[in-house]
Amino acid sequence: MTFKKGTRTSNQLLYSKLCPLIKVEPSLETSIGQIQLKRPVMLASGILGISLDVFNRLHRSGAGAVVTKSLSTEPWDGYPNPTIFSVKGGGWMNAVGLSNPGAANFAKMIEPNKDVPIIVSMVGSIPEDFELMIKEFENCKVTAYELNLSCPHVAKVGLEVGDDPELVKKIVSTVKNTTDVPVIAKVGLGTTHYLKTVGTAVESGIDAITAINTVRAMAIDVETQRPILSNKFGGLSGTPIKPIALRCVYEISSKYDIPIIGCGGISTWEDAVEFFLAGASGIQLGSAVGDNWIGVFNEINDGILQYMKKKNYSTIKEMVGLAKKS
Ligand SMILES: Cc1cc2nc3c(=O)[nH]c(=O)nc-3n(C[C@H](O)[C@H](O)[C@H](O)COP(=O)(O)O)c2cc1C
Repeated sequence: MTFKKGTRTSNQLLYSKLCPLIKVEPSLETSIGQIQLKRPVMLASGILGISLDVFNRLHRSGAGAVVTKSLSTEPWDGYPNPTIFSVKGGGWMNAVGLSNPGAANFAKMIEPNKDVPIIVSMVGSIPEDFELMIKEFENCKVTAYELNLSCPHVAKVGLEVGDDPELVKKIVSTVKNTTDVPVIAKVGLGTTHYLKTVGTAVESGIDAITAINTVRAMAIDVETQRPILSNKFGGLSGTPIKPIALRCVYEISSKYDIPIIGCGGISTWEDAVEFFLAGASGIQLGSAVGDNWIGVFNEINDGILQYMKKKNYSTIKEMVGLAKKS
C-alpha cells in the first residue's frame, strides 16, 4: 500500500487498515476537485442566497459553502405571485423566475467577504453573458462558479441552455478560458438526456457537476380551475425528488470521472450519506432549509460524524461511491 508520508489522513487510513479496532477521529473536510471545504454540506442556490450577513450566519451554523441565487447580467424582477407553495405530501413547487439584483450589484455586496466559501451561481443565454459576469467578481473572494444549466421554468436560460449541447460546449469553454476559479455545471432533467449534458461539460473542461435542479412540474387549483403558479409550470423540490437525484448522482459517477455535488430532497444525515455512497463528494440543501431552518446544517454534520465513527471512517472520501461496488 502506498501513502503520502506524514499526512494525518493517510496515517489514519493506514492505522485503520492495519488495526481495525483502533478508532480514528473522523474529519468532515472534503475535496470536490480543486474545491476544498471544511464541511461537505452546502446551501443550494436560490435559498437564502441574498446577503453577506446571512451567508456569515449560515457558515457559522455549519454550512461548508453557500451558493448564491443565480445571477444574470442585469437585474431581473421574476414572475408575479404566486411563485411558491408547499406540495401536499411533501416538497415545494416554485417558479420564482430567477429574480435577482444582477451580477454587478451582487458583487459589490459580497466584496467585503473574507471568511465564507461563496459559490457564485450564474444564468445566461450566450457565452459572453458568463464572461461579463465573471469580470464583475474579479475583486471578490469566490470559491467556485456554478453554471445554472438547469432552471426548468425560465425561457432561454437554465434548462433550455443545458438542453443544447453545442451551447453548453461554448459556454463551458469560454468560462474556463476566462477564470482560474473552479467551475461547476448544475444539471437537471430536460429534453436532452442529462448524461449527454454532463458528457459535453466534462469534455469541455468542467471541474465538477451539481446534480440536480428542481424537476419541471405543475399543480391546478380545482376551484379556480387554473394553474396555481402564475407561470403555470414550476420546479418541484424537496423529499419527493430525492430518489431521482440520487439515481442521477449514481449514474453520473458510474459513467464519468468527475467530482459530483448531490442536490435534491436531502434533509437528514442518512440522505447525505446515501449521496456520498452514490458518488457525491459534497451535498447541497435547498428545501430542507425552508422546512427545518438553519439548524439543519449542523444536525446533518453531526449525524455524518457519528456515522463515520461507527463505521471507522476518517475521511468523507472513503465513503464516496461505495454503493457502486459489485
Ligand atoms: C425557491 C427556490 C428558488 C431556487 N432558485 C434557484 C436558482 O436561482 N438557481 C438554481 O440553480 N437553483 C435554484 N433552485 C433549485 C435549488 O437550488 C435545488 O437545486 C432544488 O431545490 C433541489 O434541492 P432541494 O430538494 O434540496 O430543494 C431553487 C429552488 C427553490 C425551492
